[in-house]
Amino acid sequence: MSSINTPERGAWSSKLGFILAAAGSAIGLGNIWRFPVETAQNGGAAFVFVYLICVFAIGIPVMIAELSVGRRTRSNPVGAFKKLAPGSLWKAVGGLGVLTGLMILSAYAVVSGWILKYLWYAVAGTFRGMPADQIGQTFSDHIQSGPEVIIFHLVFLGLTMLIVQGGVQGGIEKASKTLMPFLLLLLVLLCIRSVTLAGAGEGLSFYLNPDFSKINFSVIMSALGQAFFSLSLGMGAMITYGSYLAKKDNLASAAAYVSTMDAGIAILAGFVIFPALFSFPELIADGVPAGPGLIFVVLPNIFNSIPLGYVVGIGFFFLVAIAALTSTISLLEVVVAFFIDELGWTRRKAVYVLGSAAFVIGIPSALSNGASGFLSDFAGAIGLSGLSAGGSPDFMSLVFTWFGEISLVVGALLLCIFLAWKWGLGEAVAEVRAENAEFPMAGLWKILVAALCPLAIIAILVSRYVAPLFSG
Ligand code: TRP
Repeated sequence: MSSINTPERGAWSSKLGFILAAAGSAIGLGNIWRFPVETAQNGGAAFVFVYLICVFAIGIPVMIAELSVGRRTRSNPVGAFKKLAPGSLWKAVGGLGVLTGLMILSAYAVVSGWILKYLWYAVAGTFRGMPADQIGQTFSDHIQSGPEVIIFHLVFLGLTMLIVQGGVQGGIEKASKTLMPFLLLLLVLLCIRSVTLAGAGEGLSFYLNPDFSKINFSVIMSALGQAFFSLSLGMGAMITYGSYLAKKDNLASAAAYVSTMDAGIAILAGFVIFPALFSFPELIADGVPAGPGLIFVVLPNIFNSIPLGYVVGIGFFFLVAIAALTSTISLLEVVVAFFIDELGWTRRKAVYVLGSAAFVIGIPSALSNGASGFLSDFAGAIGLSGLSAGGSPDFMSLVFTWFGEISLVVGALLLCIFLAWKWGLGEAVAEVRAENAEFPMAGLWKILVAALCPLAIIAILVSRYVAPLFSG
């Protein structure tokens, strides 16, 4: 993509290339880190149950919607709304998406930096034979170490910028294609080890045996937000990715594949984490851990309990780092595509300016897990505890809640309304069916996008955030 004559805008080499790249965007820390953390915080199996409903009933329809908008307009999120609804305010929805992408990227790269540090620990053999409580201590020592966390955050964004600079096919596709199958393989192996550990049964029950009394609107909102986050929906990433798709590719089946794969990897990650968690009594002495450290504390213990754990640990953190990278690539790509298309920037300039912006915006997140008391209780310190919207008050959690959850849900809602009331569902279906592609469930999809999804989202948002304001 760097030769002078190639256009700044790229294209996928094949439908498989697209599916792998979209799966690369979807599969990342959302599946392997955030899904287990959310499951732990929201009561286990009941959350998993609601999560799966959200993926299949809301996620897949919204993904088809985003892809159809992207392929029809061949644009970034803002350009897409401009083309389909010229002169209207709808482009602000795309603008919200671009901002959301930048903000998520800023915090996501911090957690990706933790993964890099863990790759480092794995290579150095730091955790070999280490008792469980000391593994936990090592994790908290690391996330509290300001400069070190910032350096790994910077390294990770640097890698992201290098690949996004390489362009659509050169970078994104190649990385996803070659490495994702290995991640799947390792997860399956770890899963087998985890469920056969002594004491795994209790963890399996926590993960699979739903206690429906635990479901409330906070749990449902978290599940919906997690579904969108994990599927890369609600901010135009799939508009941008769809814009590189060929007319002959089937959007509906691509969406179904990608979503099913993504949910499958998340479920598998849960099968690795929960049985193991409950089989190490030290780890649940104070109940199920509620913080962002879950996988960082559990995984080294698993590696310590298997033959070749040293090598497996290195391979695992390497592959998770790659999975995170294919996700940060997609986040940066959305923001970059906007600056290229709408403001006429070169790819190079867009990549380096916006990557640097994500770095700077991410610094407070990097310092908000103990390094800075002020940032670690940001909502409280500025006297706006309500800002944390029911989550933790640290700066990074605020970014994940506001952008990685609420904004995605609102973005998806607005997209549904846009399709139903402005662009037209018939147009969207025609786009999916371009060049005679099959879309057998078009009727069901229309009902979902025009009515059920938006109504469900509104009901969830109102019950979770608006109604409590009036109930004293
Ligand atoms: N889906 C990715 C993950 O689960 C994160 C991600 C990449 C994302 N691009 C996105 C989330 C766009 C929301 C929107 O790790």
